[in-house]
Amino acid sequence: MILKIVKYPEPVLSQPGEPVTEFNDELRKLVADMFETMYKAQGIGLAAPQVGVSKRVTIIDLSMGKEPKDKLVLVNPEIILSEGKQYEEEGCLSFPEIREKVQRAAKVRIRAQDANGKWFEMDGEELLSRAFQHEIDHLDGVLFLFRMSPLKRNLTLRKIRKLRADGKW
Ligand code: NI
Repeated sequence: MILKIVKYPEPVLSQPGEPVTEFNDELRKLVADMFETMYKAQGIGLAAPQVGVSKRVTIIDLSMGKEPKDKLVLVNPEIILSEGKQYEEEGCLSFPEIREKVQRAAKVRIRAQDANGKWFEMDGEELLSRAFQHEIDHLDGVLFLFRMSPLKRNLTLRKIRKLRADGKW
């Protein structure tokens, strides 16, 4: 089932998600629906708060559905190591048409549970590292808008205000 992706400034996007404690059919259905929704929107990552569900669940697929091994489900994820810096363009499905450069760690190691509750660790570099950080930020209620420089953040907010005034947001 395709879910509605909420846009900034929907309040759920700024709330920290609740930890997941039950790994049941409801969670598996949420994850399946999130993949369907993300592929339709042509995204590479989607967090549960973006579909209005305030839970610590996020999915990533850098191949956009082309490589089954790239499908990642992260439940209750956390960053346990990070190193270096990267400064690249980033987008977010809750900010359609907005792309801005954001500083992130070059490499991170995450720890998360899969959809069955099994813990695992995984390393990410470059785009995967960026996706881990962007999506885990969502679960903490932190949006990439607030990772931009103050100048870019103001320009972006102005652009969003204009789009909203024109009924295009
Ligand atoms: Ni996002």
